[in-house]
Amino acid sequence: MDPKTVHIEFTLNGSPRSLEIPGAASALWVIRNLIGLKGAKEGCGIGECGACTIEVDGKAVNSCLMLAAQLDGADVLTVEGLASEDGLHPLQSSFLEHHGVQCGFCTPGLLMSTHALLKENPHPDHAQVSKAIAGNLCRCTGYRQIFASIEDAVKHNSGEAAQ
Ligand code: FES
Ligand code: FES
Repeated sequence: MDPKTVHIEFTLNGSPRSLEIPGAASALWVIRNLIGLKGAKEGCGIGECGACTIEVDGKAVNSCLMLAAQLDGADVLTVEGLASEDGLHPLQSSFLEHHGVQCGFCTPGLLMSTHALLKENPHPDHAQVSKAIAGNLCRCTGYRQIFASIEDAVKHNSGEAAQ
């Protein structure tokens, strides 16, 4: 094996993954370019925009700042893992219903930050939502529809919004 290559094993959206990766690769690069899941976006690449947010062991992280090697042994969820065979995740449905999506570039990151928040706190108030998505920048919506989407999902959340 190339000494600069690292072997990692982790769970991605419920399925086991075993990969050889460049040791210096970011989690975002591996997810997008080796695995081919394009939901997490590269906006800034320096931890400022939140477009690359994924969940690692239940916590929202900026995958552009994380080494892929750190995924070894982790349980990873990306936006592709939110919907089920029954349809869209309630958070996704709420974003659609309340027009929380315009160009959509920020949406996967916002969904993952919110999903992680609801796991920890199923009924956050406005300030708690605001804090949780403070690192997710949106150039299109003005945030009003995003808050409406999240707050409606919270209102109807009886646990499924964090599944
Ligand atoms: S691409 Fe990761 S925070 Fe902007
Ligand atoms: S919908 Fe375009 S950046 Fe948020």
